[in-house]
Amino acid sequence: MNVEAGKPISIGICGLGTVGAGTLALLKDNADEIRMRLGSDLVVNRIATRTLEGKDLEGVANTSTDVFDVVNDESIDIVIEAIGGYDPALEVIKQALANKKHVVTANKALIAEHGNELFEIANQNKVVLAYESSVAGGIPIIKALREGLAANKINWLAGIINGTGNFIMTEMASKQRQFGDVLTEAQKLGYAEADPSFDVEGIDAAHKLTIMGSIAFGIPLQFDKTYTEGISQITPEDISYADELGYCIKHLGIARRSEKGIEMRVHPTLLSKSRLLANVNGVGNAILIHGNKVGATLYSGPGAGAEATASAVVADLIDLARHIQSGAQSSVYPALGYRDMHEQISVVDIEAIEAEYYLRIPAVDRVGVMAKISNILQEHDISIEAVIQKEAISETVPIIILTHSAEEKRLNQAIAAIEALDDVAGTINRIRVEPFHGEAE
Ligand code: HSE
Repeated sequence: MNVEAGKPISIGICGLGTVGAGTLALLKDNADEIRMRLGSDLVVNRIATRTLEGKDLEGVANTSTDVFDVVNDESIDIVIEAIGGYDPALEVIKQALANKKHVVTANKALIAEHGNELFEIANQNKVVLAYESSVAGGIPIIKALREGLAANKINWLAGIINGTGNFIMTEMASKQRQFGDVLTEAQKLGYAEADPSFDVEGIDAAHKLTIMGSIAFGIPLQFDKTYTEGISQITPEDISYADELGYCIKHLGIARRSEKGIEMRVHPTLLSKSRLLANVNGVGNAILIHGNKVGATLYSGPGAGAEATASAVVADLIDLARHIQSGAQSSVYPALGYRDMHEQISVVDIEAIEAEYYLRIPAVDRVGVMAKISNILQEHDISIEAVIQKEAISETVPIIILTHSAEEKRLNQAIAAIEALDDVAGTINRIRVEPFHGEAE
């Protein structure tokens, strides 16, 4: 396919929810700017959406309710999969690639869980599956990792990569709002996933981390090996105790190269309030990436919402349009940025990581309890960095402990031993601390 500048590029959109409608609107609003950059128009020639009623489809020549009409339309050069979810989105992408159409998708679940197979189909058909909008909304993080930082060996990356979760945590911390109330607002604003448990339980962030980790470290996509913990266990008390110790709590995705392999983990994290990531609020996303030559670089911006996501979708369309104009006979680059993947580097089991920990222990207000707890920590070779003992709440008194770095397996054993004490009433809340030791921002 070789389209000279000036000749329009024909686009088909499957799905007209937040992403599809946002993309259509952006293509109209910024048509002049895009034409100037590209020398051609991006023309939406066909849209398929579940219901046509009430949709603004002005200027679109062909509309239908069957997404496969888009995929099988010979005049379409690039298909945008904006359906979301798995079914029929997976089949739509496979069919479009098999029909030798380039595909743009914001569907992180599909890329994270089926990307290895989809990229293979794209390669076989000499077309590109582009997915910039699948991670961190409007932030061009895929291009940063795959192109801008391509000269570096990546040491680690850490990011706030779920806008809904960050919005909830920010509102809870700054305005003492209730979790459910903030979540409803995030849904109304179009930030939350159709199933908001994906946001709250960390699955959405794990999809995004899986994708970034694969590009950063050249390993195949392995969503099932990404450790995932959500924010639903975080209480206002934890937020306030962390604050007292000089920390805030953020839901982070962390991918790190260690001697044991690649750590891939999503969980609530204590972060010193002086860190840049600690000051990313609301629906904002931010990713800090440490390359061995460049050092740390920070990318921040809106991580969700119609216009931010559309900005990334259309950036991919423009890339692909340039690719089509160039007449290239193969993909511009391998989908994950590596021609040879480091298949032998394994993902580290969460019990094998080393971290610092915040522990909130519901202790019975009795003489000697603190000594018993510190003995158990000492027996497990875990050293204490700070302790706060709060006022008794009914029968129990919360003891807050910050530990120095320890292996998670040992920490779990110590937690089990402390929970088994008669002097401890209930479960211990444990939150990992990210100190970024020796890894200056
Ligand atoms: N639900 C996602 C978020 C949308 O809140 O970040 C963007 O992926």
